[in-house]
Amino acid sequence: MSNICVIGTGYVGLVTGTCFADLGNNVRCLDIDPERINKLNQNIMPIYEPGLEQLVSQNVKAGRLTFTMDYQEALKDAVIAFIAVGTPSGMEGEADLKYVRSVAESIADIVDQPIIIVNKSTVPVGTGDWVADVVTKRRAGKPLDFCVVSNPEFLREGSAINDFMMPDRVVLGSVDRSAAERVSQLYATLRCPILITDLRTAEMIKYASNAFLATKISFINEMSNICEELGADVTQVARGMGLDKRIGSEFLDAGLGWGGSCFPKDVKALAHMAVLHGTHPQLLQAVMDINRNQRRRVVLRLRKELGSLNDKVIGVLGLSFKPNTDDIRESPALDVIHLLQNEGAQVKAYDPQSMELVANSEKQLKLCENPYLVAEGADALILATMWNEFKQLDFEKIKASMKQPVIVDGRNLWDPDALSKMGFTYYGVGRGVKVNGE
Ligand code: UGA
Repeated sequence: MSNICVIGTGYVGLVTGTCFADLGNNVRCLDIDPERINKLNQNIMPIYEPGLEQLVSQNVKAGRLTFTMDYQEALKDAVIAFIAVGTPSGMEGEADLKYVRSVAESIADIVDQPIIIVNKSTVPVGTGDWVADVVTKRRAGKPLDFCVVSNPEFLREGSAINDFMMPDRVVLGSVDRSAAERVSQLYATLRCPILITDLRTAEMIKYASNAFLATKISFINEMSNICEELGADVTQVARGMGLDKRIGSEFLDAGLGWGGSCFPKDVKALAHMAVLHGTHPQLLQAVMDINRNQRRRVVLRLRKELGSLNDKVIGVLGLSFKPNTDDIRESPALDVIHLLQNEGAQVKAYDPQSMELVANSEKQLKLCENPYLVAEGADALILATMWNEFKQLDFEKIKASMKQPVIVDGRNLWDPDALSKMGFTYYGVGRGVKVNGE
């Protein structure tokens, strides 16, 4: 059992803190947002993450997990402090470290006991050294016994608790191997490979992993565009490729491209770091270009099918950047909606979790209570996010209520033959239908 403080209660901090508490540690989670902390203290989750509410409640009741805004209270007796605050993209794609700096300074101001500061936020390579510098300078004249460890996270939104409890690996980087080993004890019961490296290598592993996964998706999306031109089916191509163990079948689903709070920010930040240090990240640039273009291809397809999109009614199923989350950051669904609205289309949409969030920011978007109301009177229906509840819709009912039975299946979820037989004009992504791409 260790006394742990986790600073930042976003996806990463809240899941990490709760899971460490569940493993038997005494965890204090801190956030500077009063609304967030108030809600957490009433067991209201600030985010939608399957299983989280129950796990938080269990661990609060067991007395192992508390939430506070008070740094003194949060850091009291802590032997390890995790930094899990946001690192938003700056103007040039660089990661903005103002929140990380503020946490490092607060730790330096408050702590007197020996402490290991663990960086979980995704930060530019070299930030671990910089955090050590910030703390040392802040403590000038009154040295603190501390060490910085980088511990990148590999949690996926929507399956974050499982990913935490059953990781493929844990990566720890530090100039002080014994500090990294001390942190590794927190993960010992998870029985997964633990890789200990230097600080910068650990930080780089995180960027390289996300960039590789984004590359894999952009690769299959490029293949999907070629498949469309050549009359092949990308879903079968992906299956045929994925059975090769060297390739692997995950992250080979062609679609509207990747979004979320991680891939877009991290690929951009990695490319930015590369340019700053005089290298040419050509592959990363292509990976980002392909991703942007996947959204545009939907609009091109609809323009080709329907003519001008001005005043056409387009229904969109799904708004979150992927299923099982309410997160709409960099969501492909919203990008497509904006492109359609720019062409004068009237767009209506439904999502099982993120409608409240969207209602505040998307004033022109008509939100519907269910998928059938989205289809009603629509000239085309786009599937943007693969939520389970879209898997088995009543397509007879949908067809009867649409103005034109045109479907763009942006996630290759539905059966093209069945829908075509029912009289729909069906377009998937990379499923052998010719289209004039850009
Ligand atoms: C991603 C990584 O998968 C995590 O390992 C990492 O910890 C996290 O970023 C992070 O850096 O914090 P996440 O953003 O939650 O996790 O989402 P993913 O499940 O990786 O999906 C990212 C995007 O790729 C989604 O828009 C998804 O729809 C898309 N995607 C995924 C595809 O288009 N095709 C695929 O085959 C897989």
